[in-house]
Amino acid sequence: MGTEIPGGGSGQLPKTALFFVLVLPLPLGGALLAQEDAVPFDPAGAERLATKKLSGYEATPPLVVEKMLELAQVRRGEWVYDLGSGDGRIVIMAAQKFGAHGVGIELDPHWVRLSVSKIQVAGLFEQVQIIEGDVLEQDLSAADVVAIYTTPYGTLKLRPHLEKSLKDGARVVTCVYHIPDWKPARTMSVRANGSKTYELKLYRMSRQSQGVSFSKFGR
Ligand SMILES: C[S@@+](CC[C@H](N)C(=O)[O-])C[C@H]1O[C@@H](n2cnc3c(N)ncnc32)[C@H](O)[C@@H]1O
Repeated sequence: MGTEIPGGGSGQLPKTALFFVLVLPLPLGGALLAQEDAVPFDPAGAERLATKKLSGYEATPPLVVEKMLELAQVRRGEWVYDLGSGDGRIVIMAAQKFGAHGVGIELDPHWVRLSVSKIQVAGLFEQVQIIEGDVLEQDLSAADVVAIYTTPYGTLKLRPHLEKSLKDGARVVTCVYHIPDWKPARTMSVRANGSKTYELKLYRMSRQSQGVSFSKFGR
């Protein structure tokens, strides 16, 4: 029995040809479909991203995320902001385990798309939102708690923005890199991912009559 090949001669398909006709198109088709789904390259967008980036992506391990939220004593109904929210894990856990509202701010559209789909899958779209944009251009005045995992450069750039826009009593929790010249109220070390230790620091915003200070927790 033969297989009709358009334009073919004998109509008999050799076994090797059958392999190429039946097997190869599957991954190839997937790749082509993926290409159609892919977002077209946007050179201006890529340049904007590169100039505004405070750090690359590195995920905080789940145990460390939980300890950050515990250190900040996140309470039900509070607003937790993650400055550079990556795949959304901090704001998602803040909502799921602590009953908070979450706002993630993320520059990179790849992480925005991924985090938004995770939020949808978890059914948290009324509790958690992601803002695509530069953290330095966002209003943070509604935040009760701000989570930060960035670079030394990122903490330096963020500091004046935090001092200007956070409300009195807001808590800031950092992972690995601390905010220069701020005095932490509490610190914690968490071991995760084998032997890696994550240093966490908690600061509390205090707007006294004499400007701004970050000191004793619970005042
Ligand atoms: C070290 S990752 C932390 C991700 C996530 N918060 C976590 O702890 O798993 C830092 C994130 O900040 C984002 N980012 C860097 N610069 C930014 C900026 N100016 N505005 C918003 N997001 C930024 C990066 O794209 C990256 O996803």
